[in-house]
Amino acid sequence: MDKEKIRGLLKEAEAKIGIAKGLNEVEKIKKEYLGRKDGQISLILRGLKDMKPEQKKEVGPMANSAKIEIEKMIKDKEEWFLLQGQEVAGFDITLPGSKTTTGHMHPIEIVRQELEVIFNSMGFDVIEGDNLVSDYYNFESLNIPPDHPARDMQDTFFIKGHKELVMRTHTSAMQVKIMEEREPPLRVVVPGRCFRNEATDASHEHTFHQLEGFIVDKNISISNLIYTQKMILKEIFKKDVKVRLRPGYFPFVEPGFELDCSCLICDGKGCPVCKGSGWVELIPCGMIHPKVLESAGYPKGKYTGFAFGLGLTRLAMMKFGIDDIRLFMDGDLRFLKQF
Ligand code: PHE
Repeated sequence: MDKEKIRGLLKEAEAKIGIAKGLNEVEKIKKEYLGRKDGQISLILRGLKDMKPEQKKEVGPMANSAKIEIEKMIKDKEEWFLLQGQEVAGFDITLPGSKTTTGHMHPIEIVRQELEVIFNSMGFDVIEGDNLVSDYYNFESLNIPPDHPARDMQDTFFIKGHKELVMRTHTSAMQVKIMEEREPPLRVVVPGRCFRNEATDASHEHTFHQLEGFIVDKNISISNLIYTQKMILKEIFKKDVKVRLRPGYFPFVEPGFELDCSCLICDGKGCPVCKGSGWVELIPCGMIHPKVLESAGYPKGKYTGFAFGLGLTRLAMMKFGIDDIRLFMDGDLRFLKQF
């Protein structure tokens, strides 16, 4: 009797699986036949132990292969639904949608994604990197030894009980780490959060965003640096901008520069934003210091490169006309909803 029953169950299951309209239904069928507690096939399998040996010999293999067959049919059907990309049951694509409130991107994220597209198109890889880094990568590998006065330029958050760890004070902290993992030619940008233990005011915040860029290859020169910066600014501001270089000091570049661009608000004529000078300080940059390339383990003298730091937060403030940096982190919806 059991043999016939099994045959019947198998047919029944096959038919039901055949017309199932969604993953929910398939799940139900699975339970009905294979459910551990009272699935129909499971019950027969469980009953085997009370059967006489000859009966067991006949029913056992049949029940087992029915189980395997049903499992396979169910799996195939599930895969089919998954391939369809949607469940058919309970999902009527002709129904009008119901309203949901969705969030939107933070202004910093908007600027960051725009920049990533620009840099990608110029052949740069985007690597976010870590927020918590070793003192070595944040300072020492960048030619800033302990007790060097340059450390005072960046008030640092240290981690209690872990003297060797710091919250990165600049995205430059990723330079050597990435160089260690890659051989030149290298074109990388590192966008992300940086942290400084600063008293906050309209233009200072403990958490802000930078975008580090660097190129390492044979024969990279200052002209490459200037040209690249001009191209980047042209892409960002969608017009030609004039740039000028002034000397700037950062231990990990030599020579180091402050790259200014002609004020976009007044076109260089002089206005409150550029404090009447016609220029805004925008991109600290320079030729990567040989000591940094040495930290990375590159053969002495083989490569040169340049690095630059774009203030993402600063750029977002310029782009959207935001005059208080604290607004970015406040989480005030009245501010955030404007973008
Ligand atoms: N890391 C520097 C800062 O945060 C900026 C910088 C980056 C300067 C790259 C030179 C080259 O102030």
